[in-house]
Amino acid sequence: ASGLGDLAAARGLRFGSAVRNTQLADEDYVALVRRDCSVVVAENAQKMYAILPTRDAWRFDEADALARFAEANALGLRGHALLWNHPDYLPDWLTDTAFDGPRDTESFLRGYIGRVAGRYAPQIYAWDVVNETLDPETGALRPTPFTKAMGPQVVDVAFEEAKAAAPGATLSYNDYMSWEDGHESHRAAVLRLLERMVSDGVPVDGLGIQGHAKWTDRTAEFSSARQKAWRGFLDEVTGMGLELYVTELDVNDGDATGTDTQRDAEIAAYTKDYLDLMLDYPQTKEVLTWGLVDHDSWIQAFVDEGELVRRPLPFDDAYRPKPMYEAIAKAFRAA
Ligand code: G3I
Repeated sequence: ASGLGDLAAARGLRFGSAVRNTQLADEDYVALVRRDCSVVVAENAQKMYAILPTRDAWRFDEADALARFAEANALGLRGHALLWNHPDYLPDWLTDTAFDGPRDTESFLRGYIGRVAGRYAPQIYAWDVVNETLDPETGALRPTPFTKAMGPQVVDVAFEEAKAAAPGATLSYNDYMSWEDGHESHRAAVLRLLERMVSDGVPVDGLGIQGHAKWTDRTAEFSSARQKAWRGFLDEVTGMGLELYVTELDVNDGDATGTDTQRDAEIAAYTKDYLDLMLDYPQTKEVLTWGLVDHDSWIQAFVDEGELVRRPLPFDDAYRPKPMYEAIAKAFRAA
């Protein structure tokens, strides 16, 4: 066993990364994916805005290309996301007046999910069925055309359709609630949602934990108080019989100071602490990073001029493994 995917497999886990379609044309990048990943997930290609940019223009070219790539390289394919029920990330055409009342809205959603999940069954082994549907402050469902027309049923309908179209896939709710202070109400809202789903028999198998970490200083980021709160949350989730998936790991070092070497060491130490805790739960089945190479991270788009370029991922811009890579390897070896 050499790559991270192999190390993970030796522990009964999967390791992988988000992939952008443009990266498939980069041989060196593809080599990293082949060596280190056992699974991949589309960074954007399977989102509703990508598949249905206008009401009737179904576009499967990018999602299909990634699916073919995964198949050709014997990589598992994770699905992201059937319904990103967040007003900022739905297709532009999908407004409050796009549908003719609640029944039309529901029938669109069922048709969309059935078609997309059905197209990639049985290849896609797991779907983020609903992503980020809870407002972190209020805990309420985010107001989207779906929520407004269907209420809480929007979540149930999405999972039901996913189950019908892809019966072999593991189905998860995915969100960015974390161990950070200030995330208490977000965690509580996720627990309420999952509890309600489980008690109503909605076919949910697990919780996708995005794991976008914001490094401040390591002691604060993953202090024992925060670890305790986080374990309390994970205990509740697993107590419902649900699995855990780390779906979008990266560490934003925007507030870190010091040389690259110092920052990389801090990020690695943080990653190790975090994964040690997550892998302490046998319910944790996989770890995916949100990209592999620093310069491709979504976080770079938020870096202002004059700020440090971020180093959030396992490989540097020359595609050399960083200490974060070693930290992930160590966590898998120890698990
Ligand atoms: O491809 C277009 C390009 O044609 C256009 O010229 C350009 C101008 O804006 O935009 C390009 O699209 C961008 C796309 O990424 C591809 O790079 C979008 O603007 C940009 O909004 C989009 O960002 C993605 C974001 O989700 C929104 O979909 C990020 O790449 C992606 O990493 C991020 O991923 C999310 C997860 O899905 C959910 N969890 C949080 C995570 C990070 O935000």
